[in-house]
Amino acid sequence: MAHSFPGKVAIVTGASSGIGLAVAEQLVAAGAKVALVARTRSKLEEAAARLGDNAAAFPLDVTDFAAAARLPGEVVARFGGLDILVNNAGLNHRGSILDVTAQQLADVITTNLTAPIYLTRVCAEHLRAGGAVVNVASLAGMVPVPHEGAYSASKAGLRAFTKVITEDLAERGIQVSSVCPGPVDTGFFGDIDTVPDLVFSQPMSSAAEIADAVLACIASGTPEVAVPSMSGKLATLGYLFPALARGLRPMLEKRGAANKKRYKETKKL
Ligand SMILES: NC(=O)c1ccc[n+]([C@@H]2O[C@H](COP(=O)([O-])OP(=O)(O)OC[C@H]3O[C@@H](n4cnc5c(N)ncnc54)[C@H](OP(=O)(O)O)[C@@H]3O)[C@@H](O)[C@H]2O)c1
Repeated sequence: MAHSFPGKVAIVTGASSGIGLAVAEQLVAAGAKVALVARTRSKLEEAAARLGDNAAAFPLDVTDFAAAARLPGEVVARFGGLDILVNNAGLNHRGSILDVTAQQLADVITTNLTAPIYLTRVCAEHLRAGGAVVNVASLAGMVPVPHEGAYSASKAGLRAFTKVITEDLAERGIQVSSVCPGPVDTGFFGDIDTVPDLVFSQPMSSAAEIADAVLACIASGTPEVAVPSMSGKLATLGYLFPALARGLRPMLEKRGAANKKRYKETKKL
C-alpha cells in the first residue's frame, strides 16, 4: 500500500543495506526526509546520492553512545525536526554459547537491545507529536531459536521494551511498534551453513516486504506485526506451548533443511 509522509523527518539505523536501505527508499518515496545511519560511510553516501536531497548520510556506530546522543540534534539541525525513528541496525553471532566468545554475546545485546533503547531515549525529547518509533525485532524474539541465544534474547528484549514504552510515549503523542520478520533475503545470514535449519522452515521475505510492514506501522501505530503473519501465529503457539514446539521441531527442521538447500542452489552459495 502506498503511504504518504510529506515533510516528516526520519532516522533509520542500519540503512546501508538490506531492510534499513529498503525502509529509507520507501520513506523517501513517501515524501519523508531520511537520516541514513550505519557504520559504512561509503554505502550511506552512495545511497544518499541516489535518493537525492531528502536523504543524508549520518555515519555512526549505534553502540557509540556519545555519537548516538548527538545524532537527534544533528538531524534536527539538518532537516528541521524529527518525527520517526526506525531502530533496525542488527548483529548476530550464531553457534552454541560455548563456541561464541563472551565479547561476541555482549556485542549482540549491545547492538540489538541497548543501542535501540539508548537511541529511543535520546530521540524521545526531539520527536514531534504524531511521530512514531518502529523497532525491527525478529521471529527469533517470539520463539527462541537454537544457537542464537543472545540474538533471541536481544529481540525478545526489544519486543518487551517496545510494549512498555508504548504507554510512556503515548503521553507525547508518539506511536511505538515492533516488526518481527522471519527469514529475509539479505546479507544478514552471513555463512549460510551456520544458520539453523529451523530459521529456513518459514517462508522467506524480501527486504521490501519488511519495509512495507515498517511503513504500515508508522502509518497505523499497530503495536506489533510479524512477517509473514502466519509465521508469527506459529511462533506464538510455540512460545505458549513449548511441548508442541518441541514436537513440531523435527518436521520444521526437515522442511528448513530442504528450503536452505534450494536457497543455496538458487543463490549459488
Ligand atoms: N535478514 C533476516 O533474516 C532477518 C530476520 C529477522 C530480523 N532481522 C533484523 O533486521 C535488521 C536488519 O537486518 P538485514 O536483514 O537488513 O541485514 P543487513 O543487510 O546485514 O543489515 C544490517 C544493517 O545494520 C547495520 N549495523 C550493524 N551493526 C551496526 C552498528 N554497530 N552501528 C550501526 N549500524 C550497524 C549494518 O551497516 P554497517 O555494517 O554499515 O554498520 C547494516 O546496515 C536486523 O536488526 C536484523 O536482526 C533480519
